[in-house]
Amino acid sequence: GVVVGRRVRSRRKWKRVVGVLRELEEACETPVGRLRQVVDAMAVEMHAGLASEGGSKLKMLLTFVDHLPRGSEIGTYYALDLGGTNFRVLRIQLGGRRSSILSQDVERQPIPQHLMTSTSEDLFDFIASTLKQFVEKEESGSEPSSVRARELGLTFSFPVKQLSMHSGILEKWTKGFAIEDMVGKEVVALLEAALVRSGLDMHVAVLVNDTVGTLALGHYDDADTVAAVIIGTGTNACYLERADAIIKCQGVLTTSGCMVVNMEWGNFWSSHLPRTSYDIDLDLESPNPNDQGFEKMISGMYLGDIVRRVILRMSQDSDIFGPVSSRLSIPFILQTPLLAAMHEDDSPELKEVDKILKETLEISEVSLKVRKLVVRVCDVVTRRAARLAAAGIVGILKKIGRDGSGGITGGRSRSDVKMRRTVVAIEGGLYTSYTMFREYLHEALNEILGEDVAQHVILKVTEDGSGIGGALLAAAYSSGGVDNVR
Ligand code: GLC
Repeated sequence: GVVVGRRVRSRRKWKRVVGVLRELEEACETPVGRLRQVVDAMAVEMHAGLASEGGSKLKMLLTFVDHLPRGSEIGTYYALDLGGTNFRVLRIQLGGRRSSILSQDVERQPIPQHLMTSTSEDLFDFIASTLKQFVEKEESGSEPSSVRARELGLTFSFPVKQLSMHSGILEKWTKGFAIEDMVGKEVVALLEAALVRSGLDMHVAVLVNDTVGTLALGHYDDADTVAAVIIGTGTNACYLERADAIIKCQGVLTTSGCMVVNMEWGNFWSSHLPRTSYDIDLDLESPNPNDQGFEKMISGMYLGDIVRRVILRMSQDSDIFGPVSSRLSIPFILQTPLLAAMHEDDSPELKEVDKILKETLEISEVSLKVRKLVVRVCDVVTRRAARLAAAGIVGILKKIGRDGSGGITGGRSRSDVKMRRTVVAIEGGLYTSYTMFREYLHEALNEILGEDVAQHVILKVTEDGSGIGGALLAAAYSSGGVDNVR
């Protein structure tokens, strides 16, 4: 009797957990029909955001970048790339011929956690001193610097309302940064003040978003590049728009008739997005509730935490994980690289899953069945994220007439349409280091576009593009940048 009773009870518990899993699967479903609705919603919101200030949750920020570097730039340029988990300082030498970056040096550093919520002075003093050390190392042994001031591109990956190519105001923080005194302030002015304090002679030539830097490098390498996407700690995209389509800035002059628009798609929202109770709780408990809804379903800062919440719920609903581990209640303890490691564990015994569940989450009962269940949860959450990102990309293609629907190219039927080769530059750890994510994203692109159109859409990784692109733009837009014509 006792044994049978126990078995029945344990079966009931599994039933409950399986119920939680099924519910999650259903709530995260992204059939192609739903993805198409997201595509349409994205394109519609893009129009609305371009029509008027505040017309959409999509900010569609002007960048003032109206021509992209072409390869004729010459000289040595620095860049500072701030905005994710790491920050980077780099220096490039340009040779003046197409795609001739003669040399590049990059130094990465994690941003000390306390600086992300400290004061702007602390943050920028730290950055300026790191930059200074880097410059001194790079220039040691060479002639004392020439007459020309050093030029810097600042890649700053947060929503900035640009006032010009080289100035802009921070609108709000995202990705866990929260330095209150900086919101509403001019970003470049703060950096310049810190540079002066540190005694480093450096001129900030441009201020750009990371997506814009990525687009710049992508376009430098491949002139068919029309958009750039980041899927890392946060997620966002930018693309080249016709100036006359940017209704809200009628009258702003561009030399090329185009301007790069920073979408800030992390804040995109639509009722078609498959939202779960875990997303709602994550949002409520985040430092920026009601904000960055798309980002919270897709990017590296959040995916692990969605999975943590599901496991916590399962553990509370049954004892298949043993007693509820207190670790499961610590926000962001399960970081996305760990989620990826569990998801991609191909050992028969799921050793990696075993290790992470025991060591990071301190879960005591981790039978093979439990490990498989956790892998399934990772799969559901990551697949949804990758497919939504794909829908976002197609939304952009649709807006610029490159989705093969023929509206702009003028073909009669789908097969009539001559699709132009269309390159999207892409960066960020989710895409570059998480194979399953990348595969799901490509699969969804094929489903939404159909293979004959999808074959003309190329996603190209631009390594360190956000920073290098910032330096390229500094070259293209600074007084020394030789050839400034479009
Ligand atoms: C966040 C920022 C955005 C940035 C993106 C990727 O969404 O708001 O500016 O481009 O993260 O780093």
